[in-house]
Amino acid sequence: MRFQNQAVLVTGGGSGIGQQVGLLAAQEGARVAIGDRDLANAERTAEMIRAAGGEATALALDVADPRSVTDFVAAADAALGGLDVLVNSAGVREIQPVLDLSFEEWNRVLQINLSGTFLPSQAFARRLVAAGRGGSIVNLASTLGLMAAPSRAAYVASKHGVVGLTKQMAMEFGPQGIRVNAVAPGVVRTPLTERYFQDPEMAETIRGIHAVGRWAEPAEIATAILFLADRQNGFITGSILPVDGGWTTGKKM
Ligand SMILES: NC(=O)c1ccc[n+]([C@@H]2O[C@H](COP(=O)([O-])OP(=O)(O)OC[C@H]3O[C@@H](n4cnc5c(N)ncnc54)[C@H](O)[C@@H]3O)[C@@H](O)[C@H]2O)c1
Repeated sequence: MRFQNQAVLVTGGGSGIGQQVGLLAAQEGARVAIGDRDLANAERTAEMIRAAGGEATALALDVADPRSVTDFVAAADAALGGLDVLVNSAGVREIQPVLDLSFEEWNRVLQINLSGTFLPSQAFARRLVAAGRGGSIVNLASTLGLMAAPSRAAYVASKHGVVGLTKQMAMEFGPQGIRVNAVAPGVVRTPLTERYFQDPEMAETIRGIHAVGRWAEPAEIATAILFLADRQNGFITGSILPVDGGWTTGKKM
């Protein structure tokens, strides 16, 4: 059990990829704190973990609010008796061409995706450094943290920001034994993207952009996240791991 006796915090753990991270980490022995803006969904994930014999606590969290974030990390530390791994999975996206994108919407996406990765990482790392212990952070970037896509300016900018922040924190936290990595998933079927799959033409386009000819399920991203979080991979830091079915290998002619 790779995460036996380890405490794993997951932001956005009430749904999609974060929920799978919580479930799989608990299966591998972790005590898990699920933070989400939607507390009912966080409770549901924690209940799923407990029903499978794991240990989990659900906590209300707004990753864009500094006070809420420090409260979440402190409460998780107290409930789990320490901190080892943080997975920053809370995220949102917009669909608007740049010319129509309001400043409010731009700010909302940047605050949740980028500040919402910075704040939990900072609060988590501060506690680890104060306690004199190492740990690991895994961020959710995206293929859209590596390239652009139509009508996604704020999302693309936020995920490119997550890539840069991942490298920066890996450099700064390395001496303290805190590793920082990110995954860059292709399209994953979750509540965030469910709308695409209602349109058969769009579903076909999504299949076509991935070299493997299909989209991903959340567990396929969660296993890559846990690979990066695993102490056995202690020399991996500052890495951005594409988990994209070959989407970024190139554009079809
Ligand atoms: N689904 C995809 O295709 C895909 C692809 C690449 C990257 N990602 C990234 O993976 C992460 C998870 O996405 P998902 O598909 O599982 O989405 P999801 O919508 O299923 O889950 C996201 C969770 O984040 C929570 N959340 C939103 N704002 C929050 C806030 N301010 N504070 C706390 N929680 C908040 C939501 O309540 C939700 O439970 C996101 O960062 C997303 O950008 C997703």
